[in-house]
Amino acid sequence: MHGSAPIGSVPVGERPGGAGGDARAAPAAGEPGGAPCAVRVAIFTDETGWHTRRLRQALARRGFEGRCVDLADCRFDTTATPHGLVIPGFGRSLPRAALVRGIAGGSLEQITKRLGILHALRELGVPVYNDARAIERSVDKAMTSFLLQRAGVPTPPAWAVEDEAQARRILMREAAAGHSLVLKPMFGSQGKGLQRLGPVDGEFVPLPALSTVSGLAYLQRFVPQPESAAAPGFDWRVLVVGGRARAAMKRVSTHWIRNVARGARCVPCVLEPRLAALAEAAAQALGMDYAGVDLLPDASNPLGAQVIEVNGVAAWRGLQRVTGFDIAQALVDDLLVRRLGLATAAPLAQVCHF
Ligand SMILES: Nc1ncnc2c1ncn2[C@@H]1O[C@H](COP(=O)(O)OP(=O)(O)O)[C@@H](O)[C@H]1O
Ligand SMILES: [Mg+2]
Repeated sequence: MHGSAPIGSVPVGERPGGAGGDARAAPAAGEPGGAPCAVRVAIFTDETGWHTRRLRQALARRGFEGRCVDLADCRFDTTATPHGLVIPGFGRSLPRAALVRGIAGGSLEQITKRLGILHALRELGVPVYNDARAIERSVDKAMTSFLLQRAGVPTPPAWAVEDEAQARRILMREAAAGHSLVLKPMFGSQGKGLQRLGPVDGEFVPLPALSTVSGLAYLQRFVPQPESAAAPGFDWRVLVVGGRARAAMKRVSTHWIRNVARGARCVPCVLEPRLAALAEAAAQALGMDYAGVDLLPDASNPLGAQVIEVNGVAAWRGLQRVTGFDIAQALVDDLLVRRLGLATAAPLAQVCHF
């Protein structure tokens, strides 16, 4: 993980502990050490706001209490609790389950510890949604490319190399075949730090010194699309929940980087079976409970699209604007039904016993 960009795209909001978050509120005194609380679900996030509010409301509708906690505030302490973790707001007990909404950027050591907390929760039997392993796979763009290709999901050719001469040779070879490449930060998000290399608008854009990009070139073949002022290009974003594609939109922009955070317009679209099948295969290839899958139209492919990225900590505010389907409720219900084995047809009346 790298030093600045958060994992996944998270909206601007307040820190947990402010309005809408409550990580440090109400120390849960008297809880039996190590027992999971019946109704408290941890929402791991470094920023509270629209998404965490929706999740808390969706949980409340099912009789659960969502508590926002920053993974940076969680710690390993093998003396404090029988299980060796301290999760602020949970006292000596553990959450019944955890939803991962955002992990702040940090040093390799800090990120390793934060993901370590998620791994530890899984080892302690607490369902984590998405699991740390799935988050690690999706946050690493090279691993995503590898797993997609291995599963037979159409995805552009990709390379991750540390040797600058080798990266330059790849670029020359691809350029000779008429392709341009996209250089991406391997742990990037929100369209930040992307560069097009090789033949671009009649000029040749060379590889920058790898020392300026963390010493690593993650390169992906650029997927061109026909576009004009009248018909700008688009990506698809498909949301997969519990193995099923549930909602889709187009992200339309005249710029080739079409993230919502970069000003792309969210446009409703029909979730065609071919698109749904591709997104579901991508989510499965990475072992995700839920995923925001980015696809690009590609007429040269029999399935009509290629998967370029799978987001394991996906924001869904843009998608929620163009769909009637309640995304937060779908995520919460999938967690409760599939991971906790509960029925959610009616609100669950449960009591926290301690
Ligand atoms: N190989 C590619 N070909 C064409 N456009 C691309 C390619 N890779 C990325 N893009 C554009 O850049 C956007 C951001 O790239 P992505 O790989 O999803 O990274 P991020 O994690 O920053 O969202 C994509 O949504 C798409 O619009
Ligand atoms: Mg993306």
